[in-house]
Amino acid sequence: MAAQQTNHFFLSAILLLSIAVVSSKAALDAHYYDQTCPQAEFLIAQTVRNASIYDPKVPARILRMFFHDCFIRNKAEKDGPPNISVRAFYVIDDAKAKLEKACPQTVSCADIIAVAARDVVAMAGGPRWDVLKGRKDGKVSKANDTKTLPPPTFNVTQLIQSFANRGLDVNDLVTLSGGHTLGFSHCSSFVARLHNFTTFQKTDPSMNMGFASMLKQKCPNSNNNGDAGQFLDSTASQFDNDYYKQLIAGKGVFATDQGMYNDQRTRSMIEAFANDQDLFFKEFAASMIKLGNVGVNEAGEVRLDCRKLN
Ligand code: HEM
Repeated sequence: MAAQQTNHFFLSAILLLSIAVVSSKAALDAHYYDQTCPQAEFLIAQTVRNASIYDPKVPARILRMFFHDCFIRNKAEKDGPPNISVRAFYVIDDAKAKLEKACPQTVSCADIIAVAARDVVAMAGGPRWDVLKGRKDGKVSKANDTKTLPPPTFNVTQLIQSFANRGLDVNDLVTLSGGHTLGFSHCSSFVARLHNFTTFQKTDPSMNMGFASMLKQKCPNSNNNGDAGQFLDSTASQFDNDYYKQLIAGKGVFATDQGMYNDQRTRSMIEAFANDQDLFFKEFAASMIKLGNVGVNEAGEVRLDCRKLN
């Protein structure tokens, strides 16, 4: 009888322990560094703010970096194309160096990127939210993983699928695409819409004609456009709902963005966000938290140098 009771006790203990392990695995926490690195958020915000003063391209690049970091499981964006936002990776390096001094081996690079992305949005006039933390950095680094990012040529069905593969719904797709309220694109990402759309139509007919002519001047031929390009909305350093207004006017830069306005599954959300910036901000904060839960690494490490595995 005593042996049976002891067995029962051990079985219950093991069961409780495994429940604790399973639930602790996925749970990120807004207060994750409260005890171990209380100054983490302050140091990250300070670094991002200073860098953005010196280089106004930093906010958009950091926001895009966060999107890629969540979509690529192994946190390896900097190893392969499309890696333009990686030009702001030095900001993450800088924050990491400060954090390693303040609280060694504690704050992951994935968490630094998540906090920095929230900070750039808030700094540019957008919403603010509590970032859930506790991610680990990937232990594998594969350049080819960047190929799993959605390209700007996807149709709406492909975009929906790409987001659904990560547990994100159509609402998240339309909302997070609002990240294109910040930043710039090189001609290479949209030039096919101007000169080689189809055999019969050189220019994408969903584009506003005046907008298409303006872009053709900036990107006069299909290749060799170097650094030329276009801002993604008319207030590209301000986080606002202008991106959605531009889509309604046929002035979306990417086929993917404009495609969402021309599709019944996504058009009404675009109209709602164009009419109500507060609604967009509220939804954006919620979808960024969801995006931050995608591909959370539970078995990784805290990298000492964000550019390489320990
Ligand atoms: C829906 C699928 C998406 C596609 C196909 C896409 C595609 C692109 C492309 C092609 C560029 C321009 C790259 C270049 O030529 O320099 C770009 C820029 C950018 N993307 Fe996206 N993107 C998507 C979603 C997102 C999301 C979800 C966010 C953030 C929440 C985001 C944030 C940005 C930002 C801020 C830039 C500007 C970067 C800069 O100025 O350097 N994108 N995106």
